[in-house]
Amino acid sequence: MENPKREQWSSKMGFILAAAGSAIGLGNIWKFPYIAGENGGAAFLFIYLICILSIGLPVLIAEVLIGRTTQRNPVGAFKKLTNNKFWSYVGKMGIITAFIILSFYSVVAGWAIGYIVESAKGAFQNFQEPAQAGEYFNSLLLQPEWNLFYLLVFILMSMFFVYFGVQKGIEKGSKIMMPLLFILLIILMIRGITLEGANEGLKFFFHPEWSKITSQTILLALGHAFFTLSLGMGVIMTYGSYMSNNDSIPGTSLSIIILDTVISVVAGVMIFTTVFAFGQDPAQGPGLIFHVIPVVFNQMPGGIFFAILFFILLALAALTSSISLIEVVVAYFVDEKKWKRQKAVIFTGVVGTLLAIPCSLSYNLMSEVKLFDSNFFDTLDFLASNILLPLGGFLLAIFVGYVWGLDKAVENLKIGSEKFFEKYPVSLFLWKIFIKYLAPLLMFLVLLDTVGILKVVKNLFVE
Ligand code: TRP
Repeated sequence: MENPKREQWSSKMGFILAAAGSAIGLGNIWKFPYIAGENGGAAFLFIYLICILSIGLPVLIAEVLIGRTTQRNPVGAFKKLTNNKFWSYVGKMGIITAFIILSFYSVVAGWAIGYIVESAKGAFQNFQEPAQAGEYFNSLLLQPEWNLFYLLVFILMSMFFVYFGVQKGIEKGSKIMMPLLFILLIILMIRGITLEGANEGLKFFFHPEWSKITSQTILLALGHAFFTLSLGMGVIMTYGSYMSNNDSIPGTSLSIIILDTVISVVAGVMIFTTVFAFGQDPAQGPGLIFHVIPVVFNQMPGGIFFAILFFILLALAALTSSISLIEVVVAYFVDEKKWKRQKAVIFTGVVGTLLAIPCSLSYNLMSEVKLFDSNFFDTLDFLASNILLPLGGFLLAIFVGYVWGLDKAVENLKIGSEKFFEKYPVSLFLWKIFIKYLAPLLMFLVLLDTVGILKVVKNLFVE
């Protein structure tokens, strides 16, 4: 049964911006610099770029393709293409993953909102170096009310957008917000590069030390490639389901990947030049940007204004991402369970909040509560980014290559992309090889390794 009224993006640009809005978020500005910082800088960047090109791009294309072909949410999409029940569980795994990501993501987005208020209050005015800002950040983390309050504000804001319909909100919002974020990041990057001692930071970020690459680096880089592109759990599939048959999937996918990667690299340059100029340790973990940003602004004319603007944009970038997470869950309940949109939004918001609370308390009241050797926040992040997303991506590639079949996939992929494939005939050949053989093989190896790591962690925990 086709749904003749299913909404579509207003244009190809609309889809690119909405998908880029989902992709570009805390993953680029908050997470990428800190994991690169903890894992050898350039060595991580290098592996990450390989993962983006060899696995991220083919899987992104596959996800958009399944979404557009079926015009369904992830569970419905698999149901439409195969009778085998297993695949609707894969779709459901995506729904669960959405909740898990939403929970720790909202905590960090809450910090960003809290920092809008802190900058407006002038809390950072006297900071001369990141160490002071770091102390300040840590003191805020210790206050459960501060964390819980802004967490709730963020979840309510996200629910608000999805409740009243995302299409116009996301498309329009992204068109204004994304360019603004980009310009501001460029200004900050220039500020970073012109600081004395910035060269050390550039060296750290662009000159790889190969000895720093371990299987852990590869695992994290792959996980982050999925996280930053919103892959492996059905967001992109859901967004692809609103796409028109006139638009080229490989072309739009490339644009999304380029936009996302450029933002991450710019954010990395901005952070590492500053960190090194101030002689700080790049491996400070999740607090990194909250330690560094307040100090950079302080060194600039109009610092308070820029700081407020930066944290507003960070929160908005997070918002377009969290909206996409909620949208997947809502699309599932609306399509498959025939719930009203409003009911689905409230349910998702309440369950999301309940899961987010322990993450929010991970740095204060519940810092002693350990799951697999880490706090709640880190465990959920690891579980989603490094296990569930790559597993989702792996299964998706298997589905396209072996269940649905390359012939049908290619037939649908060609719709809207005739010109693209005429111009770049090898691209189709490469996609087939990657999605059927190379990407699944690489993902499988990495996943095997993760399971091994998990066992070791578990043993430590038991002893
Ligand atoms: N990609 C977003 C970021 O980098 C986060 C995100 C939004 C996400 N939706 C997702 C991650 C779906 C994984 C899956 O901030």
